[in-house]
Amino acid sequence: MLTLGFNSTHDCGAALVEDGRIVFAVEEERLTRCKHQGGFPARSLQACLDAHGVDWADVDAVAHYWNPRAGLLRFGWHVLRNLPKSRTFFRRQPGIWSHMSRLPRRMREEFGFEGEFRHVDHHLAHAASCFFPSPFEESAVLTLDGTGEWTTTLMAEGKGTELRVIGRVGYPHSVGKVYEAVTQYLGFRPMSGEGKVMGLAPYGEPRFIELFRRLMRVDRHGRLRVDGRFFEYQYGRGTKYGPRLVAALGPPRRPESELEPRHRDIAASLQLRLEEVALELARRLRVMTGQRRLCVAGGVAFNSVMNGRLLRESGFDEIFVTPAANDSGAGLGAALWVQHVLKGGCERVPYPPPGLGPDFDEAACERALTAAGLRASRPADFLAETARRIARGRIVGWFDGRMEYGPRALGHRSILADPRREDMKDRLNARVKHREGFRPFAPSVLEERAADWFEGARSSPHMLFVFPVKPERRGAIPAACHVDGSARVQTVARITQPRYHALLRAFEAETGVPLLVNTSFNVRGQPIVCTPADAIETFLGTDLDDLALGGFLLSKEDLPNSAVSRRRAVEEPLSR
Ligand SMILES: [Fe+2]
Repeated sequence: MLTLGFNSTHDCGAALVEDGRIVFAVEEERLTRCKHQGGFPARSLQACLDAHGVDWADVDAVAHYWNPRAGLLRFGWHVLRNLPKSRTFFRRQPGIWSHMSRLPRRMREEFGFEGEFRHVDHHLAHAASCFFPSPFEESAVLTLDGTGEWTTTLMAEGKGTELRVIGRVGYPHSVGKVYEAVTQYLGFRPMSGEGKVMGLAPYGEPRFIELFRRLMRVDRHGRLRVDGRFFEYQYGRGTKYGPRLVAALGPPRRPESELEPRHRDIAASLQLRLEEVALELARRLRVMTGQRRLCVAGGVAFNSVMNGRLLRESGFDEIFVTPAANDSGAGLGAALWVQHVLKGGCERVPYPPPGLGPDFDEAACERALTAAGLRASRPADFLAETARRIARGRIVGWFDGRMEYGPRALGHRSILADPRREDMKDRLNARVKHREGFRPFAPSVLEERAADWFEGARSSPHMLFVFPVKPERRGAIPAACHVDGSARVQTVARITQPRYHALLRAFEAETGVPLLVNTSFNVRGQPIVCTPADAIETFLGTDLDDLALGGFLLSKEDLPNSAVSRRRAVEEPLSR
């Protein structure tokens, strides 16, 4: 049975599931080259079929990650009750609902697809995206996001191919929306800059924690409650925080302006409160279900510091966080929901290793190099040579195999650097990434060595957990260690990622350190590279030292003059 799942608002994408097995998934931004691309993911949908060599006639069902009819009455009442503040919703929501309701027709018109079309409850799609491909036969399930239809938080229990809903939290009581609003208050882009706030938090002191405890609380019935008097997001307004929050915390930070100690303290307080709320919800869920394992999804599950605390302190023995926790993962979950629940169930298949997207073989890499007028070497000791270059302090663009699904680069479209160098963070930022200086860089580590370097380390193949670096090791990997001595760790197993594992082994042989700094292969404001041509363009447009493309190695020193002038042409827009 073939089911296509997709999401159709922000960060859209599509995924193909065959008999419970996730076979392909891609986000539209990687194909259109427009970061956070939203709307109808026409290219991703077609790419799923093309990559799997099937036709629209072979697709049994298409699943959409949102049910436009769900929660309509409650939403309508909410809007009426809050007029005139909520009038923005009148302008915006009908367009969104009509876009979603017309999707079956659009599938017919655009692709000639006449088969079954299902709108799936948003949080059930999130829950399905984490439980069904999890390694657990049964578990508790927690989903947290901004909102999906009327739901912001879902608590459930999964057994085999069944998911039983235990409780829901309704809009506007949303940890995701509060985090989004404070992200905007702190001068970062909401629904994009939340990771920056998480990265900023360890620089501050949580001196506003009592305020945040009043803003977000879990009542005696276990329900999340937000004090809406401090926010405006619930009225659909562009500014998501309210005057009362400004009165309590001071003026909001203008984007790109200097970060003051107060801003860091606000980030620290928000982050701490999120962790407290998530821990409380998880502990209650553990008591309610009696389960020893937990699955987590929803956009908030990208908060890897929260995940690390859930792993250590919630009382669950094991936790699985789905790699595409956000709404593109809900598209995948919608397809899984249709197969496992609506179609009567099929075998559950564990989440595949990183790399669910487009693949490009050596010949495709060679063609892209030729098209760019570049000649690259193909050393026999390719991995050892790449490791040697990184050990010499060079920054390498690493392009290998299928592209990752979800926002983390996991050794397929990565920029790799030496974690031992004190100045590497600044060099990466100045020369390639152009990110805020306070943001940390994350390490990939050989799975079998992780416990030697990180406290309480567990398998973390998708870089979704933060662990403390062992104090005696911190000095050895300054570029991979955050200001509080923590790191967002990716563990790399030989069996699932043999080539990346071999590169880490080669680097260990060279340096004695089984880790690499691994950051996504893109520059600020652009999506992660997808094709060899994207990789070459980013290589030429930045101060990356080397490009490892398939089995080819290319250095900046080897570039012909024509490529250097092209590099300048590409670089100019980036520096504006
Ligand atoms: Fe969501």
